[in-house]
Amino acid sequence: MLSKELNKEPLKAYEQTAYFKSSEDMEAAEIGEPVSLIITSPPYWDLKDYGHQKEIGKGTYEGYIQRMNTVWEKCYDFSTENALLIIIVRDRRKDGIFYPIPMDIAKNMKRWRFIDYLIWYSPNAKTQSKRYKDKLYDKKNEMILVFAKNFNYSYTFRKIKVRQKYAHADQRVYNKDPEGRGLPNIIRCPAQKPPNIKENNYHVAAFPDRLIYALLWTYSNKGDRVLDPFLGSGTVLKIARYMGRVGVGYEINEGFRNLIEARINEPFEPPAWEELDILHEPEKINPVNTHKPRVTRERMLHEYLES
Ligand SMILES: C[S@@+](CC[C@H](N)C(=O)[O-])C[C@H]1O[C@@H](n2cnc3c(N)ncnc32)[C@H](O)[C@@H]1O
Repeated sequence: MLSKELNKEPLKAYEQTAYFKSSEDMEAAEIGEPVSLIITSPPYWDLKDYGHQKEIGKGTYEGYIQRMNTVWEKCYDFSTENALLIIIVRDRRKDGIFYPIPMDIAKNMKRWRFIDYLIWYSPNAKTQSKRYKDKLYDKKNEMILVFAKNFNYSYTFRKIKVRQKYAHADQRVYNKDPEGRGLPNIIRCPAQKPPNIKENNYHVAAFPDRLIYALLWTYSNKGDRVLDPFLGSGTVLKIARYMGRVGVGYEINEGFRNLIEARINEPFEPPAWEELDILHEPEKINPVNTHKPRVTRERMLHEYLES
């Protein structure tokens, strides 16, 4: 149930701001200084009802792609020259017809340049519906599309490193990176399935905190300005607050105000990077804080010589 007392005033908490209006109408004055990262998951097409008559996702498929383009264009205008636009999205199947939404977003993008995509692997995503279960593999992924303003790769990038198996025993110890190997471009992250989804008006499509944590860690720095044009429950603002980023966002449905406020204030426990790694066996992960280099080259060599 959405809150009945609707309040259109912007919500401000810590350094996070949420506007309750369509992001198609966002304005430079609301955003303030240009943002260096836009990260969002747009509404699904013709699938979920978020409770607002004018929300994107109702109407034709072409109209859906076009309306989102208005938003991506505004994001372009309100961002720095080295900004990135990251869109987390999945495709849709309706009446047997396949709508490859990520591909169509990329194909119809105007000024942003498509430079990369990652896969969000969600082990607990739903299996195929009855209609398709004997015709299609189960869908356990969403795409993370990465767009930049040009092809000069001048954006912020910090690669997530995970422990290397057998690092110490490897004869080629000199070639090893003491910080570990890079996380592959498939990020394992169970979908958010809070038990209280109905009781507390939890958002039906909230993305997992840790996925946003990993992406903000990779693509932004402390103090950076980050924009989410489709806030939903406000995951981006919650993690932006935790990580010392200045978050701005838009949500057309004022009914999510209390939820967004509550989420900005929620605690967050960062994962060990190995938990996001498809090459690590889950039961062997030691959930310690692994965000800092754990092994120096000297120690690695020392342990190798001692072994
Ligand atoms: C997929 S959900 C976002 C979920 C979000 N990533 C989270 O973690 O909770 C998309 C959201 O976009 C909102 N929305 C739809 N059309 C919009 C518009 N024109 N402007 C702003 N928000 C809109 C919907 O109400 C919905 O909450």
